[in-house]
Amino acid sequence: MPAAIDRAPTVTVTPEQIAFFRENGYLTVESITTPEEVRALQAVYDRIFAQRAGREEGGQFDLGGSDEEGKPAVLPQILNPLKHAPELGEIQARVNARAIAKQLLGPECDGGGSHAILKPAGYGAPTPWHQDEAYWDPSKEYCSLSVWIPFQDATVENGCLWFVPGSHRLAILPHHRINNDPRVHGLELDDFEKHTAGAVPCPIPAGGATFHRNSTLHYAGPNRSDGARRALIFGFGLPAKPRTEPRRFPWQEVNETPRQKRRAEWQAKEKSIPGKK
Ligand code: NI
Repeated sequence: MPAAIDRAPTVTVTPEQIAFFRENGYLTVESITTPEEVRALQAVYDRIFAQRAGREEGGQFDLGGSDEEGKPAVLPQILNPLKHAPELGEIQARVNARAIAKQLLGPECDGGGSHAILKPAGYGAPTPWHQDEAYWDPSKEYCSLSVWIPFQDATVENGCLWFVPGSHRLAILPHHRINNDPRVHGLELDDFEKHTAGAVPCPIPAGGATFHRNSTLHYAGPNRSDGARRALIFGFGLPAKPRTEPRRFPWQEVNETPRQKRRAEWQAKEKSIPGKK
């Protein structure tokens, strides 16, 4: 986890925005950073995707497809991009995102993971309806949020986020692997039409942000524009607690992703290097 940054936030949210987030489970903020920072971040972002950073260790993969070597990824994702570009952790956008997360969930709220999802120009696939918690350890209780920051305007055409207002009050609903393919990392909500009738699109300018809870239902459309749709996501939350009532996420138990295989091979190789654990 990157160290907390000793810099003052430049954006905060109003009591009305906090009330909206508590009621609806999501919030949009028009700007959490400057156009200069957005431009600098675009270049860093494009570099780590072009370098396929993290590919060998299973940290870069196709979220929406079977992730075969030599096949262009329809929805490339990098987990923990800060590992490959530490400058992403030191940005004003993150300082502001963290400060707003504390306003929304309380002062104990702090940083967790980060990831980057790219929708390539013209063919970036949709991110199906899901709840983020469906990806996580089912034995824990979460109170967290994700901050989604686009590095160009996010529109309905290029794949902005959509949310179902009030869905953060739902339990985690059944999900399955995209196309029911055990090689695909990405998850999709079962019978999504049943739960998503009231969904609202949230287009935002470059350098704006959306905030959503761990159980809020959300989706992003395909990229039908002629430019890349770049988004960086930061997680913040209270420390996860063990759950009192056990539960199972059966969709996690079928996992034949090439990413898992690459990760296992990479870990075995790391272990075999003298002096490394
Ligand atoms: Ni998500």
